[in-house]
Parts: sequence; structure tokens; C-alpha cells
Amino acid sequence: MIVATVNTKGGVTKTTTTIYLANEYRLRNPDARIVIADLDKQGSASEWADLATDNGQPLPFEVQVSNVKRLPRLAADLNPGDALFIDAPPSDSSLIQAAIDVANFVIIPSRPAGMDTARVWETLRALEDDQLYAVLIVFARLGTNLLRDTKTAFDSENISRFDTLVTLKEKYPQEYGFRPTPDTTYSDVLAEMMEAMQ
Ligand SMILES: Nc1ncnc2c1ncn2[C@@H]1O[C@H](COP(=O)(O)OP(=O)(O)OP(=O)(O)O)[C@@H](O)[C@H]1O
Ligand SMILES: [Mg+2]
Repeated sequence: MIVATVNTKGGVTKTTTTIYLANEYRLRNPDARIVIADLDKQGSASEWADLATDNGQPLPFEVQVSNVKRLPRLAADLNPGDALFIDAPPSDSSLIQAAIDVANFVIIPSRPAGMDTARVWETLRALEDDQLYAVLIVFARLGTNLLRDTKTAFDSENISRFDTLVTLKEKYPQEYGFRPTPDTTYSDVLAEMMEAMQ
């Protein structure tokens, strides 16, 4: 399984989503090889892994600094049941494309706000017609008109999206640099994604 988390927009939880999904995959698959490919020169996923090691809570999967040459090789080295999660950078269209090109599933996290949802359309243009993908609504505030309107906007355009919403929670920034605690939200996201890939 190769999952790319992409959005041309910055700060939409690409790295957080990648780390939590890899952690949830580990909880379900104790013996699988699980790798995060950090394609972002900001190095956030790599830094998270290094800090977690320093904090005595090493992440239960590999985090590799990667690039366009190494990514296809890493993808080809996987065995069935293994998982590669790609943390893509914002803005860099060639790296975003490289991530999408090797992925079986593309996750596009987006805030429920007009300016951000516009970037989803831009990101979607990089996908082939038969690419499995889903938009993940993040920083959601339940019961708001903004959330309702965002769901309606995606649904009316037949944009595939996760039913699971990632709400605004302090837990995520607080766990930066530590091994994530088990998370029901990302467990649900993983379950939805696995079902879509069957
Ligand atoms: N559900 C959430 N609720 C509140 N804060 C969150 C949530 N998810 C992530 N964050 C925080 O939001 C910030 C941006 O998240 P993150 O770094 O994962 O985004 P990104 O898309 O990878 O950013 P970049 O484009 O810079 O790579 C971080 O401080 C992170 O801890
Ligand atoms: Mg990031």
C-alpha cells in the first residue's frame, strides 16, 4: 500500500496525517514494514522522528529523507502488506506529482474554508482519472455552517471525501516530537481508506 498525502497548500496537516496513519497502520500490523518517505525539504516528518528518538519514544516505523529518484525505488521494494506513506511538500508541483505517481491512494487534506477548498481543485488536476483519492476535511468545527457548506461543495462536484472528519484538537500539536497515542479519528480514516482500496 502506498499512500501520498498531498496538497499544494501549506499547513493543512499533511505531516500530522502521515505520521498518525503510519502509527495506526503499525497498531494493526505489528510485523509489516512501514516507511514514511519525507519528500519535504522542511523535514518536518524527519524532525518528528528524531525528536521522538531523543524523547525516548522512537516512532514505530522508519522515516526516510527521500526525493524523486529514491521514491520509485522505495516503492518497488515493498512486499505485500508493507506500507509506504509519503509526506509531500506544499507548492513543489514536481515532487507532488512524483508522490501521486507512485501512490495507490492519495489523501488531500483541506480546511473547511473557501480559499483552501479551491486548492483541492488545483491539487486534483494532478491526478489521473482512475486514481483512488479522497479529500480529508481537517480543522473541522462540528455544527458550523462552514463545515456544512464545505461538505456540500465537495459532494455537489462529486469529489470523493472521507466521512471521517478531523476536528481541531490540541492533542495533535502537543504530540509533535513524540510517539503518537492511539487515535480513533485516524483509525477511522485508515479503515475508510483500506475499504476503498479493496
Ligand atoms: N487536527 C488538528 N487540530 C489542531 N492542530 C492541528 C491538527 N492537525 C495538525 N495540527 C497542527 O497544525 C500545524 C500544521 O500541521 P502540519 O505540519 O501537519 O501541516 P502540513 O500540511 O504538513 O504543513 P506544511 O505544508 O508546512 O508541510 C501543526 O502545528 C500541527 O501540529
Ligand atoms: Mg508538512
